[in-house]
Amino acid sequence: MSADDSARVLIFDTTLRDGEQSPGCSMSRDEKLRVARALAELGVDVIEAGFPAASAGDWEAVHEVARQVRGPVICALARCSADDIDKAWSAVAVAERPRLHVFLATSAIHREHKLNMAREEIIRVAVEGVRRARGHCADVEFSPEDASRTELEFLGAVVQAVVDAGATTINIPDTVGYTTPQEFHETFSYLRAQVRGIDRITLSVHCHDDLGMAVANSLSAVRAGARQVECTINGIGERAGNCALEEVVMALATRAAQFGARTGIHTQRLYPTCRLVSALTGMPIPRNKAVTGENAFAHESGIHQHGMLRHAATYEIMRPQDVGLTRSHLVLGKHSGRHAFRERVRELGFELDAGELDEAFTRFKALADRKKELFDGDIEALVLQVESGTGGPWTLVSLTTEATTGADASAVVHLRHSDGRAIEQAASGDGPVDAALTAIEHAIGLPLRLDKFEVRSVSGGEDAQGEALLTVECEGRSYRGSSVSTNIVEAGVLAFLEVINRIEQSRAARRPRSAAGVA
Ligand code: KIV
Ligand code: ZN
Repeated sequence: MSADDSARVLIFDTTLRDGEQSPGCSMSRDEKLRVARALAELGVDVIEAGFPAASAGDWEAVHEVARQVRGPVICALARCSADDIDKAWSAVAVAERPRLHVFLATSAIHREHKLNMAREEIIRVAVEGVRRARGHCADVEFSPEDASRTELEFLGAVVQAVVDAGATTINIPDTVGYTTPQEFHETFSYLRAQVRGIDRITLSVHCHDDLGMAVANSLSAVRAGARQVECTINGIGERAGNCALEEVVMALATRAAQFGARTGIHTQRLYPTCRLVSALTGMPIPRNKAVTGENAFAHESGIHQHGMLRHAATYEIMRPQDVGLTRSHLVLGKHSGRHAFRERVRELGFELDAGELDEAFTRFKALADRKKELFDGDIEALVLQVESGTGGPWTLVSLTTEATTGADASAVVHLRHSDGRAIEQAASGDGPVDAALTAIEHAIGLPLRLDKFEVRSVSGGEDAQGEALLTVECEGRSYRGSSVSTNIVEAGVLAFLEVINRIEQSRAARRPRSAAGVA
């Protein structure tokens, strides 16, 4: 291995598996494909596409990503059972570069209370799992779940056994976000010192953020020799989330001398990828989020602004353009042509095909008729709508609302279905949003429960656009929708229709098919 190679840290993205496990972040198969393609463009080394044994939908999503996405290794997760491993392999085998990832908990608390297994049994089952996976695939990762709370000596014994059994990557998870940078450094140093043959495999780190230390703990593991970091876009994931990809990548890039390590990430693709995942999961990026938040490169105080004007490096350790934030003061309006629009879209980091560009430009013109000036936030929102559009079957033909202080509001909605049905429905409610959503609910006749409704502004000015984000429960499943408009009632209605369209699509996908490929 050349000196250069030993500095290379692989980025293993688990947005589609661990990230998607976080409440309210579930994605459809097509959305997962979009994210997988964006991750490939971003330059991640490994995409963990899902957990095929979890459901038929997961199997299909992994299979489609494996079939269609070229470049990164495509990985499928499995417990250490023959059934899980075979199912994971049946989903991922078609990939250009497949990987199987098997896991088994090793900590005393999991052994006693979850698995009811003794130490020797854990080692036996882990080894059997790795051997079965190796029977299918040359690239096998093993994770001792809850490693950070496992007795160090026993962790070493498990890792030794699975390395001997043929695992090619060993991932050490801090499953519950409990460890600290110093402690994890010691864990990795211990494993590197004690396990024979560890230098022949890739040592990986996987951290959760329960105490807000996922990125710091991952970086500490890199300093101790980890050469793969598992992370998610926007840090989404179980509970408080996972190590945020954009943060760990920019820390490694900005403090390269400290870490002596580098990734293969095209950092200018970070911001558009983070925005895409935010739009598809309905999880807004907090304003003060490191690297990609709206305030990450904003300077309010006079002293800072003065310094910035003299030299940007006085208060900026990264350049906004390095993470793909190419904000400009250029404002587009109804006289802007297709060329200026296309250039702005490209500068903002989005790649649209000809059809998508046509649709985005049509929407841009319609919006420019209603809104004097269009800022970057407006253009981003519009492009993301095109990129994540669910495309029917229901569309809104018209919406009329009436609201008077102190009285119930009323709404009339006119909807059309792609099968030709047209419905007009009126309802009253506690405010125009409630009235309009009730009218749609009556028109469609689905048992829906609105769990969350949020509105935020996506740009500035008096005629700023509002983005409505909502979460709805239907038949025990949670669905999300989002939409943007200068009229926030209309944004709410369009977001609600997006949810209804998702429900129809997922019901259609769940209808029994003859060849689903899942046992
Ligand atoms: O957090 C965890 O332990 C995991 C494993 C399956 C790697 O996600
Ligand atoms: Zn995890």
